[in-house]
Amino acid sequence: MAQLPILEYPDPRLRIRAEQVTEFDAELAQLVADLFETMYEAPGIGLAATQVNVHRRVLVVDVSEERNEPICLINPEIVHADGKVSYEEGCLSVPDVFEAVERAERIKVRACDKRGETFELEAEGLLAICIQHEMDHLEGKLFVDYLSTLKRDRLKKKALKKAKRDVADREPEASNASAPLI
Ligand code: NI
Repeated sequence: MAQLPILEYPDPRLRIRAEQVTEFDAELAQLVADLFETMYEAPGIGLAATQVNVHRRVLVVDVSEERNEPICLINPEIVHADGKVSYEEGCLSVPDVFEAVERAERIKVRACDKRGETFELEAEGLLAICIQHEMDHLEGKLFVDYLSTLKRDRLKKKALKKAKRDVADREPEASNASAPLI
């Protein structure tokens, strides 16, 4: 297994739309293992392949307290959604930014496992939010895209300034350490 580097906003590779997985082979199983390792190490509660610069429709999540409920979705599709919920999201690819985003409260997802078997999963609450957030990554979409243009421009300037500064010294900024990153 290997921990993979995570791309950070505004890296343009986060905007690449991921492709369907067609081969359920050992290489895919390795990618899934690496995604889980990278997510747990970060630590985060979800990670999409896009975030590690692999543009295939694979995502992993684990929203459990004990970090022992790994879920991997390959080629996920939302087949049903209802309700609305607003949650302050943070993202491993957008450090130090936490903003409320509105999403469906309950979803039903159809996906494949790493062996290519199709299954359905019903999710609500944080799990539903997390899956929708990761599915956006596969489309090249980030949670900051839901914010107003003014707010997003400000964040982009801040991120670019930070990227420049990080080359010189990697002093971590104070962040909301209690909120989960997805
Ligand atoms: Ni994210």
